[in-house]
Amino acid sequence: MQVGMFFFFLIAVSSCKKNQDDTKQDIVFTAPANFPAPVYNFASNPVTTAGFELGRKLFYDASLSRDNTISCGSCHQQFNAFVHGAHIVSHGIDNKLGHRNTPTIANMAWGIDFFWDGGVHQLDLVPPNPIKNPVEMDEQLANVLEKLRNDSKYPQMFKSAFGTDEVNTTRFLQAMSQFMNMLVSANSRYDKYVRSEGGTLSSEESEGKTLFEQKCATCHATDLFTDRSFHNNGIQPAITDSGRYAITLDPLDIGKFKTPSLRNIEKTAPYMHNGSLPTLESVLDFYSTNVHSTTTLDTLLQQNGTIGIPLTAEEKTKLIAFLRTLTDEDFIRDARFAEQ
Ligand code: HEC
Ligand code: HEC
Repeated sequence: MQVGMFFFFLIAVSSCKKNQDDTKQDIVFTAPANFPAPVYNFASNPVTTAGFELGRKLFYDASLSRDNTISCGSCHQQFNAFVHGAHIVSHGIDNKLGHRNTPTIANMAWGIDFFWDGGVHQLDLVPPNPIKNPVEMDEQLANVLEKLRNDSKYPQMFKSAFGTDEVNTTRFLQAMSQFMNMLVSANSRYDKYVRSEGGTLSSEESEGKTLFEQKCATCHATDLFTDRSFHNNGIQPAITDSGRYAITLDPLDIGKFKTPSLRNIEKTAPYMHNGSLPTLESVLDFYSTNVHSTTTLDTLLQQNGTIGIPLTAEEKTKLIAFLRTLTDEDFIRDARFAEQ
């Protein structure tokens, strides 16, 4: 039984470094009581108010792209739980399309590997990828840093966050991680139910929860709703996207992708790494009747000689009712995370 709502990690108390004008309290990173321990090394990069605010400004700044039109927030939109709403694959600079669907960036402090194929192992190393990607932001990091140095506000913000006005790669990446680490989504009705904070589930939702625990929770595990590992769940990838195999070159990894969290799933359509499924109904139809059988298909999806996870219409309705309890309006509307 959980007693109390949260336990607090006092991650950063760097008052000595603080700028005199910065009267705000330092930020405390809060790990929800129903989550596993975070993975990010906060000791190496404690969250401070000034660092968080700098990271937020960078996240929403289109000057991170070659032609100053695309920001991180263009594809990771707060009102869509930080995905690119209604986009099958990412849509970046010069109207170019990528080849994968934009995932949410909620709860990145618990991330072990990043991207659908797990090609990056540290949150601090993520931003150079979209910045350099020719179909996303198509810019060089050195140019970005130069733009920031010549800006009227950034040098002072770097000083508040890191002690001097030097704008360098490490500080840039640390500030972005400080912002992203604070994007914690853990206040859905489901969370309030499991933490006994007054959240209730209807009988349909609660039966959906039981079905989910029986049929889905091995991969969509813990209250992060992901085991943070890689599986082939039977989605047929494009011939050009071998998933995890591109990173490990192990043939057993062909067609495996990182299990996505299902938090705020109601808000993050379309679904799967290739954005091929438009609705939650289509996801459950896929699991019950359209799973594509290949040699690397996960054994959980081929039990007793049956391909897929057989589900009746009633079970699908209950599962969807449960998945909708994972929507966290507090997170989606949290003014701290919005462009200022
Ligand atoms: C053009 C759209 C686009 C832009 C701009 C963009 N992203 Fe992304 N983001 C994506 C896509 C698509 C993926 C998945 C890529 C993959 O798996 O190959 C992704 C993945 C991520 C992930 C990993 C999520 C996970 O669960 O593994 C993080 C973190 C992230 N982006 C942060 C950022 C930051 C920070 C910026 C700005 C520097 C940014 N993104 C800019 C589309 C975008
Ligand atoms: C064998 C592990 C496994 C099982 C079991 C499993 N999933 Fe998944 N799920 C995944 C993986 C891996 C993906 C991403 C696959 C891809 O994009 O190619 C995924 C994707 C999804 C998505 C899309 C998420 C997004 O953001 O695009 C939903 C929704 C989903 N699963 C729901 C369920 C439900 C409901 C069940 C139970 C009926 C279930 N899954 C069972 C591994 C699994």
